[in-house]
Amino acid sequence: MYKVHCLNNISPEGLALLTDQYELVDDIEQADAVLVRSANMHEMAIPANLKVVARAGAGVNNIPLEAMAEAGIPVLNTPGANANAVKELVLAGMLLASRDIVGGIAWCRDNAGDESIGKSAEKAKKQFAGREITGKTLGVIGLGAIGKLVVAAAEALGMKVVGYDPFLDADRAAAISPAMTFVADLADLYPACDFITIHVPATPDTKGMINAEAIAQMKDGVVFLNFSRDTLVDDAAMAAGLTDGKVGCYVTDFANPAVMAMEGAIVIPHLGASTAEAEDNCAIMAVNQIMDYLENGNKVHCVNMK
Ligand code: MLT
Repeated sequence: MYKVHCLNNISPEGLALLTDQYELVDDIEQADAVLVRSANMHEMAIPANLKVVARAGAGVNNIPLEAMAEAGIPVLNTPGANANAVKELVLAGMLLASRDIVGGIAWCRDNAGDESIGKSAEKAKKQFAGREITGKTLGVIGLGAIGKLVVAAAEALGMKVVGYDPFLDADRAAAISPAMTFVADLADLYPACDFITIHVPATPDTKGMINAEAIAQMKDGVVFLNFSRDTLVDDAAMAAGLTDGKVGCYVTDFANPAVMAMEGAIVIPHLGASTAEAEDNCAIMAVNQIMDYLENGNKVHCVNMK
């Protein structure tokens, strides 16, 4: 009997796939397999019996990959399983940055007791007027599972797209979208875009890649969207960009004290993958992958060893 420990809530749709060869255990020390979402495993001792870790999600920055590899434990993730959910929130982020929907809703709440709110709203609404996204240019940094979907959705909304991905060549980029302008250098993306969204993993190489030098190359008033990880953006440089007007709006899915202090940031509490559908998809994929590893030795979507 294989023992499985869940470090976070994992969708019952996924857990239901565990066959009668598996049991869920509360004690991680007994676990052959761990299922994890956002729990930080960096400070945890590696359980003696552990054979595999599966992350129900794409990012693996909460897991000590090298230490796991040294202990012979594959870490598996579920790329693509929550991509649609993230794509939808990126679209929402662009709209929130373009139309003062949040300000308008707050105004309605604040004026809830006004008997003639309908009339007052018609007078007040000019302060919340915005701009449309159709016809604007979106830069997509990273054309993996999420980036690809963002490209298609933005094009369907009538946006022009400039794409960048250091792991793709022009032919593979054209297969994602023949209409997209594919650039091999971020210096060609930054000045061309009204909106820029980033979809790359958090690694030592990508840490702080959106720094003062990058921001200086962007269009004045650019909207920057970060639904990947907060470490990709140098918070001090982003705060300076917002203050001097270089950046019109920073939409981030990662709350931290620095972004909460930024005037002009729209901060969301990491809701990118928080949909019922994405949670089910990730759990189903993660559970299938741990069973495949434990029963057949297959390391599907392994991020820390060959
Ligand atoms: C991911 O890494 O897949 C997303 O950020 C969502 C999540 O962390 O659950």
